[in-house]
Amino acid sequence: MVSRVIPVDPFDLVIFGGTGDLARRKILPGLFRRFCAGQMPKDARIIGAARADMDAAGYRDMVAEAIAEFGGARACEDGTLEEFLDRLDYVSIDARGEKGWQDLAEMVRGDVVRAFYFSVGPSLFGDLAERLNTHGMTDAATRIVVEKPFGRDLASAKALNRDLAAYFDESQIYRIDHYLGKETVQNLMAVRFGNMLFEPLWNSQYVDHIQITVAETVGVGGRGEYYDRSGAMRDMVQNHLMQLLCLIAMEPPSKFDPDAVRDEKLKVIRALDAVEPHHIVRGQYEAGAEGPGYREEAGDPRSRTESYIAMKVGISNWRWAGTPFYLRTGKRLKARSSEITVVFKELNHSIFGEQQDHRNVLSIRLQPNEGITLGVTIKEPGPGGMRLVDVPLDMTFADALGEEGADQTDAYERLIMDVIRGNQTLFMRGDEVEAAWAWTDPIIEGWEARGDVPKTYDSGSEGPVDAVQMLARDTRVWRKVAP
Ligand code: BG6
Repeated sequence: MVSRVIPVDPFDLVIFGGTGDLARRKILPGLFRRFCAGQMPKDARIIGAARADMDAAGYRDMVAEAIAEFGGARACEDGTLEEFLDRLDYVSIDARGEKGWQDLAEMVRGDVVRAFYFSVGPSLFGDLAERLNTHGMTDAATRIVVEKPFGRDLASAKALNRDLAAYFDESQIYRIDHYLGKETVQNLMAVRFGNMLFEPLWNSQYVDHIQITVAETVGVGGRGEYYDRSGAMRDMVQNHLMQLLCLIAMEPPSKFDPDAVRDEKLKVIRALDAVEPHHIVRGQYEAGAEGPGYREEAGDPRSRTESYIAMKVGISNWRWAGTPFYLRTGKRLKARSSEITVVFKELNHSIFGEQQDHRNVLSIRLQPNEGITLGVTIKEPGPGGMRLVDVPLDMTFADALGEEGADQTDAYERLIMDVIRGNQTLFMRGDEVEAAWAWTDPIIEGWEARGDVPKTYDSGSEGPVDAVQMLARDTRVWRKVAP
């Protein structure tokens, strides 16, 4: 297969927090890869903006190091790095003061797309927006990109939306959820809406239940301080798992256009049932061969923050009433594995008598080993009567699509190019984020009110046994967490 790379228009991208962890790990190496791929025009410019006193040469050195460490400089020709670094500039700036703002206003060009990436904590979003406005950088050609966490509850998300709306139109605001930039997450839409096969069966009449798993092997490591204030609910469920749930459950949008898609996602979030306390299991990992336990990493021996969550979620609409969605995510689990599994109902009548227990299972592997498997029932080969057996129709994208199937462009690089192109389809709209918090808040408030303590689980396991029991009560089982 031949990859088609369509260059974007010339742009100036300013990265606030340009020396930070996300910029070094994801944003700058990702931009470099887009440059290597020929997608970034030669006259594009990237301006790092941060507190540190540094000149452009110092910034280029820092970026070169970041690319060496995190870059994955695949298929880059010799000399490309120097060419890329030439596109970089730097301004030392005070987000809450005046320093650097005039310099920045003089640096950015008036006749190209201007994007400002707020790779900083949400407490600075309002200050940045206000100063961009004061210094004349908020006209219609401007776009801003904001990172999660977008608030920590409904009230703070509303306040952030208000702060940004004071200076920017919704069409200029790009709220990143990097899961939407993953190749296979977009593939969910292609599979559902590009095939005749699945959609007629995609409802509670034919689907018994759906499982969404995002399992990680990493612990919270050096992010303990941030994570302990968030927990899996705020860090993963409110955003990444919610987005997966929306893409799996939404009605077909009339077209693949930003508002058509986001309108449908919003309807799903608004149709979510409140979650009963006994339909949630929270967990915390204990020390193991992989490293210290959660409480030690979080620096609080009494922490009640969850590093794991499993929950049963209902959607009250015509399509899904009666079909539960089981969501789970956690750190320090057995394997890194994200998967969505659609378990279809049993046949309503089997002509084969006793051998009833065969159902089709569609699993979509998001990462790693991206692909789709459909379990189908066939006759077990050989004489001796009609015995049935389930076999997988397995498509691993890397096998089916060759090199390109394996070459997963990183989510961030794809999303940044979408910002430059002005395509908001894979970004969260303000009302979507608020609706997700409106659903999440009462759950978290309930834990706080009850003083809920998470169950412990062994590092490297599949999570707390209570999660297994939760499904067992419904006579169901989780899929194995395997890469
Ligand atoms: C981030 C969370 O948004 O997503 C992290 O803050 C998590 O805690 C990460 O580890 C998972 O992303 P990925 O792309 O590695 O699945």
